[in-house]
Parts: sequence; C-alpha cells; structure tokens
Amino acid sequence: MSALAWPDAAALPRLFAGLPRDGSQLGLDRHLSLHGPQPSAAGLIELLEASGLTGRGGAGFPAGRKLAAVRSARRRPVVVANGAEGEPVSFKDKALLRRAPHLVLDGAALAAAAVGAREAFVTVDRRAREELESVSYALEERRARRLDKGVRLRLVPVPAGFVTGEETALVSVLNGGAAKPAFTPPRPYERGVGGAPTLVQNVETLAHVALIARLGPDWFRAAGTADEPGSALFTVSGAVHRPGVYEAALGTPFPALLAQAGGVRGEASALLVGGYFGSWVDARHVEGLSLLGSDLATVGASLGAGAVVVLPRAACGLDQAARVARYLADESAGQCGPCVHGLAALAGALEGLVRGGPDTRGRTVRWLEQIHGRGACRHPDGAVRFVRSSLEVFADEVELHLHGRCSGRRGEFLPTGRVA
Ligand SMILES: Cc1cc2nc3c(=O)[nH]c(=O)nc-3n(C[C@H](O)[C@H](O)[C@H](O)COP(=O)(O)O)c2cc1C
Ligand code: SF4
Repeated sequence: MSALAWPDAAALPRLFAGLPRDGSQLGLDRHLSLHGPQPSAAGLIELLEASGLTGRGGAGFPAGRKLAAVRSARRRPVVVANGAEGEPVSFKDKALLRRAPHLVLDGAALAAAAVGAREAFVTVDRRAREELESVSYALEERRARRLDKGVRLRLVPVPAGFVTGEETALVSVLNGGAAKPAFTPPRPYERGVGGAPTLVQNVETLAHVALIARLGPDWFRAAGTADEPGSALFTVSGAVHRPGVYEAALGTPFPALLAQAGGVRGEASALLVGGYFGSWVDARHVEGLSLLGSDLATVGASLGAGAVVVLPRAACGLDQAARVARYLADESAGQCGPCVHGLAALAGALEGLVRGGPDTRGRTVRWLEQIHGRGACRHPDGAVRFVRSSLEVFADEVELHLHGRCSGRRGEFLPTGRVA
C-alpha cells in the first residue's frame, strides 16, 4: 500500500477533492496525480475491516465483512457497482459517477481483485446520459493506459425505477431478466450474476474503498467517530439556498450540513432524512442532532443513503406524505400481495386524510404492522417507515384536515420522478 502524504487526515472533501471548477470530471491524469497510482489489492479486506467502512447504499452493512464472505465462496465471484440510484431525492451517486468516476472504477477493480473476481459491472440508470458518458469516457482512458489488469470493467445501463437498485433486482437485470427483486435466499453473495457469488456494492462505498486502499484505515478513521467513522455524501434539497451534493464527516452537526447548502430558505416545518425510505424530523429537533445513525435513532430516523429534504412551512406535510406514499405504491414491483395491496391501501388512507376524513388512523396503524416484513424485498418496510413517521410528525396537520382545514399549500414539492 502506498501511503500518500495527506496534509490533514481529517480534511474534507475526500471523494470530491480536486474536482474541476467547471463541473467536468476529474480526468485520469489528474486523478492519479491527486490520489496516487492504482494500489495493490493485497490485504485490502483486512484494511476495510479495520477502517469500519459501511455500505453507503442505505443499509449500512460493513463492507469488509461482505467482501470476506464473497472471497470465501467456492466459485469465482462477480462484482456489481450499484449506481442505479432510483431514489428521486438522491443525486450523490450520479454526482460521483459524473465528477469522479475513476474513484468508483478503482474501487470496483480493487474489490474485484480482492475477492478473486475477473468481471465487474458498473450499473447506471439508463436515463442518466451524462453519467453514462462520463463512465464510458473514463473506461476508455483506463483502457488506453492499460489499467485494471486481470479485471474486465463493464458499464451496464439499467432500467429506471425505485426498486431497480435493490440488489436482487439488479442481479436479475444483469441476468437478462426484469428489474424485479427476487425472493431470498439465496442472496447475491451466495448466487447472483450467472449463478456466481456476487458482491453488490454501492458506487460511493467503492469510491471510499479506492481511498482506503491508498491511505489506510487510520486515515479513514481520522474523520467521523469511533463507532461511525469516515465521511459520506449527502444530497440536500428542498427549502435551502444551494441544493446539491455535499460531503461531510459522520458526526458533523446537522445544522453544519444545512449551512453547506446555504442554509434554510424561509421557515422549515420538517426535514425528511434518509429519502423516501426515511423519516420526517420536526425542524425544531434538528438543532441538536448530528449526522450519526445513533443520534438520528433518538428521533426515529436514520441516515439511509444520505438524502435530506427540507420541507418549507408553506407546504402541507400531510399532502406531501400522501404523494410520496402513492409514488412508493406505484413503484412496487407488483409481485408480493402485502406490498401491492398494502402500499396502495396506505397511500389511499393518507389521501383520504388529506381530503378531510373519515378518520382511518387506527386502521392505518394496524396495516403498518401487518405489511412490515412481508415482501420479498424491503420496499414495503421502507414505505411503512415513511408512512408511520408521516402520521407521527404531521399529527397536528392530520387533526386540522379532519376539521376541514389545512395549514399549507398543496401540490408537488417532493419529486416523484427524475428531476435532474
Ligand atoms: C427498494 C430498494 C431500492 C434500493 N436501491 C438502491 C440503489 O439505488 N442504490 C444502492 O446502492 N442500493 C440500493 N438499495 C440497497 C441494495 O439492495 C444494497 O443493499 C446495496 O447496493 C449494497 O451496497 P452497499 O453495502 O455498498 O450499500 C436498495 C434497496 C431496496 C430495498
Ligand atoms: S416486496 Fe414489493 S417491491 Fe419487493 S419484490 Fe415484493 S412486490 Fe416487489
């Protein structure tokens, strides 16, 4: 491992270091002069385990442990870099693929070498034209330079959709099937692409792998906390002055992330933390929170894939919740009864409350319990978390609606399709 001199180990940005000001990608020459040559993958899994890196695709599983499981499989494995990013309020993976594709490709090649794979698929939403072009160009640069010996990196455009990025759905697409999750077991790490053990890792996770391989676990741990080390990318949108993708150390005070995004525009009523599988946090509680799973858990939230939306007081939270619930119901892959019927019923219940009644809250809460854990994938669980938190955080708004009133404006604020 080459240990580069990094002036201040805790300094940020890390993944976004040295990006050209004109918004273009960090080309291969600049990438190599900034981050150093492509390192060896020897000992990488141990380095990752020591670093404490967890997956940045939403579930937060320890990366080193997943690589170790795939390495110990009996067949030659395959690697999948998950850049599907179907979440409408998340753009961090697209930003990374567009601006720093070589970090992702380094990470994919290193992970492949570490687990003994000869093939790595980089999956990108097929509508994401700029990201596809950026990765394609980066792959050309690497081929011309004869990097990635022993590993074939392939770019694969995948269908758009909220559940496409679920790992078994992605495997299905790579196997020539539909973008629908599969019943497990087997999980991809046991049997995935072409029946081979498959390491599915979010593209941001792989970008961190590329830096940890060069700079080591102590460097990674210089940012963040002992239990939740490192930095992460956050997509901040809604009522802020500069919506965008920002890198922050875990443990950063929440208001400091909002300050990076130019601060809250006007008055906020709540923040949606963790995207459409996430939870609402009352704006009054944000002051004392930090970007840590343990801290957010105290208000029933989690970081997920780092998407944060600031809801302005002028928008009716209940109306937004009903729209997102309908979107999640429509995005169901349509194969499990509790997901298909349950999510449609939850959306219908919220829409009924928006219209002013009848009061179906008791029945809706019972449905939440019945739907949770009943799908082949975790799509219904995410939707249940979102609806439960909507009923809790917008309880006053529900009361108002049941009395024929509303405190805000209605209409699309939270996007329910591609917005970039
Ligand atoms: C409905 C659904 C959608 C998902 N979409 C994505 C996605 O777009 N990108 C992603 O990296 N992970 C997504 N995931 C999580 C993946 O299944 C998987 O956990 C992840 O890619 C593993 O990578 P990581 O450990 O590096 O986070 C999704 C999960 C679910 C249940
Ligand atoms: S739980 Fe829903 S999204 Fe997941 S596989 Fe079943 S129907 Fe599809």
